[in-house]
Amino acid sequence: MRAMTYRGPFRVRVETKPDPEILHPNDAIVRVTRAAICGSDIHLYHGLMADTRVGQTFGHEFIGVVEEVGPEVDNLKAGDKVLVPFNVCCGTCYFCSRGLYGNCHNTNPNATAVGGIYGYSHTCGGYDGGQAEYVRVPFANFGPTIIPDDIDDDDALMLTDALPTGYHAAQMGDIQEGQTVVIFGAGPVGIYAARCAWLMGAGRVIVTDHLDYRLEFVSRYGPAETINFTHLKDPVVYFKKITDFVGPDVCIDAVGCDASGSMLQALAGFHLKLQAGNAVALHWAINSVRKGGTVVIIGAYGPPYNLVPIGSAMNKGLTIHANQAPVKRQLPRLFEHIRNGYIKPSEIITHRFPLEDIAEAYRVFTSKLDGCIKPIVMPTAA
Ligand SMILES: NC(=O)c1ccc[n+]([C@@H]2O[C@H](COP(=O)([O-])OP(=O)(O)OC[C@H]3O[C@@H](n4cnc5c(N)ncnc54)[C@H](O)[C@@H]3O)[C@@H](O)[C@H]2O)c1
Ligand SMILES: [Zn+2]
Ligand SMILES: [Zn+2]
Repeated sequence: MRAMTYRGPFRVRVETKPDPEILHPNDAIVRVTRAAICGSDIHLYHGLMADTRVGQTFGHEFIGVVEEVGPEVDNLKAGDKVLVPFNVCCGTCYFCSRGLYGNCHNTNPNATAVGGIYGYSHTCGGYDGGQAEYVRVPFANFGPTIIPDDIDDDDALMLTDALPTGYHAAQMGDIQEGQTVVIFGAGPVGIYAARCAWLMGAGRVIVTDHLDYRLEFVSRYGPAETINFTHLKDPVVYFKKITDFVGPDVCIDAVGCDASGSMLQALAGFHLKLQAGNAVALHWAINSVRKGGTVVIIGAYGPPYNLVPIGSAMNKGLTIHANQAPVKRQLPRLFEHIRNGYIKPSEIITHRFPLEDIAEAYRVFTSKLDGCIKPIVMPTAA
């Protein structure tokens, strides 16, 4: 089959690889019809995720058609159209049975932190992902979800990660009626978090980024107030000022370890390698939020450590909520929100590339060229 492969930082290409096979009675093979590139893939592409191995196929956001199932799979059959949540999870371990599907104990040998994630380094289990013609899907009785007839393919693709993640970010904010929510990052995750914050009862939603085209999009799609942080002397002082010098109730970091906005953080992270990437958005979130407020870390970090003002978090009495989003848990409610017209997830898709042009797709997305918000890739046969 043809599949995206990682060759080292900033280098990806499409290669011919052996077709995946059923390795366990609970596996399925899915023929991919659409895959997306995520902000999380940028961390891999930049070489910021530990144990990302040459030859791995990325792609944790994909939908497709079941091609073959192992003898113990009874929830799916060949020909079913499925969306596959990015978490590889068993559905039955201590963590899965509590709905913590991002923390499954059975799908990753390094499971002390994260569970398995498709196409996301050996730190996350070493699974090949869906930016390919075919994928092996383990625990196929649990993860893959049949796409309902009234949910279209592009919307279903956004349900494999980006939308449930934005929704989860808003949910983890424990937003109370009328509260002010500031979101750092106007990528797909931040955009959906802004939209979903209203569903949780927010009274005011503000998004910051340095890309005006994304701020313009979220100002309509959220809707949200927006501010370009490069126009500010100090974003923390600004967010204090516009909230009566108290600070927002909830701050959501939807940026993660590839942030811009601090030379010092960049020097420590990207050049001296004293930390894993750049944590300035989290820094701003902790310092901006009001005392006793909530900080949500939905942007991805580490496992290696980052320079964040943990003393401020402690002394301000903050609640910090963080995790990989448990996609499967969010799906029933999100199907309803799509049906009711509260949200049309596919509206954030800006680009479509043939799988063969994946290197170009990564370049456009990671460099934020051509107004790109969310690119998807399609295998030729799809
Ligand atoms: N926890 C999860 O389950 C989960 C799932 C998906 C994605 N993620 C993470 O969420 C983050 C966002 O994903 P995405 O797909 O939206 O990525 P993206 O790269 O498209 O968006 C990130 C945005 O942050 C902006 N930004 C950079 N520095 C900033 C700063 N200091 N302040 C404010 N904005 C800044 C960028 O310009 C960009 O628009 C990534 O870290 C990704 O790994 C987490
Ligand atoms: Zn993703
Ligand atoms: Zn599990």
